[in-house]
Amino acid sequence: MVDPKLEKVIQFERTRPDVHGDAHPKKLLRAIVEDGDHLTKLSEQHIYSADQFDRDTLLQLFRLAAKYEANPDRFTTSLNGQILISAFYEPSTRTRLSFESAWHRLGGDIMSITDRSTTGIAKGESLRDVAEMFNNYGDCVVLRDSKGESVREMMEALRIPIINAGNGTDEHPTQAMADLYTIFKWRPDLVSDEPGKPLNLVLVGFPAKMRTVRSLLKLLCYFPEVFSKVTVVNDKKKNQMFEAGQLEHLEEFGLNVQTADDLYDVLPEADVVYINAISWEGNSFKQYGKSYHLDADSPLKSDAIILHPLARGEELSTSLDNTPHNWYFSQARGAVFLRMALLTCLVKRAERVLDVI
Ligand code: CP
Repeated sequence: MVDPKLEKVIQFERTRPDVHGDAHPKKLLRAIVEDGDHLTKLSEQHIYSADQFDRDTLLQLFRLAAKYEANPDRFTTSLNGQILISAFYEPSTRTRLSFESAWHRLGGDIMSITDRSTTGIAKGESLRDVAEMFNNYGDCVVLRDSKGESVREMMEALRIPIINAGNGTDEHPTQAMADLYTIFKWRPDLVSDEPGKPLNLVLVGFPAKMRTVRSLLKLLCYFPEVFSKVTVVNDKKKNQMFEAGQLEHLEEFGLNVQTADDLYDVLPEADVVYINAISWEGNSFKQYGKSYHLDADSPLKSDAIILHPLARGEELSTSLDNTPHNWYFSQARGAVFLRMALLTCLVKRAERVLDVI
């Protein structure tokens, strides 16, 4: 006989509750015309930086992600016979598990390393030599490492693609792709022939230190007409907020970048609020902008959406979870489909899932 108190907590509903921000991907799918050439060329590339993309390649990746998301049961074998080497030498909930989920959902096999001390690195083996071995064992590598230079070191020896899943304070390109995919799922008109009003984006973060913010800003450069204004909110002086040349690079691409130190000055006009407070530096994380905080009482436009790469801290109150502003859970969920799309292209399987070659 189960204790009634226990019985109450062990029961759960399989039906997903209404999830805010769960826009149907079909509208985005219809807004972008398929052009497989932009995807097939990815099979000869490592994924290192948000800098390496272009607008058309991103749109085609978003289209394929939307296709996967709209038809989750149709594509289950695209990666049959392929092996992913998932190497995460720094903590991760979303990136590792969503990459592995993406690979599994497409029928591939995985070898996972979560502790570098279980490999020859503990005996002084170079990353270059480890990469040389990876060539024989798998078909694609996903690496997260707290050292900015590790991905590059491995790239030099790899003859299979590697994806940078976060390298220190440098970049996290697939997170930024998932962020943009979420925005375009919410507003597919922005990439259609009849775009609506451009977005006022408020970005609470530290571009010089946060890899998620750095990569996202780079991707926004490919869509300057989509953002009427990007306001970076930070308590540092402008010349500390950005690295040398970073702001100039964004402006060269036509982004209208402003800065602010008071979040509540700019929040009431924001269409999209992106917030992050953590940067992984060395062997631990640092928190920035402790005064910035969003909750259900914050002065948000009624239709504003909030994005956060997660993990969250006090900057993002759980009181927002059950409001229509919550698009951060949708953002994390959509990352699986975005990664499915990218992985398919990297291992030369795009032709299996495209309608038109
Ligand atoms: N967004 C992100 O990189 O989360 P994880 O650190 O959990 O992978």
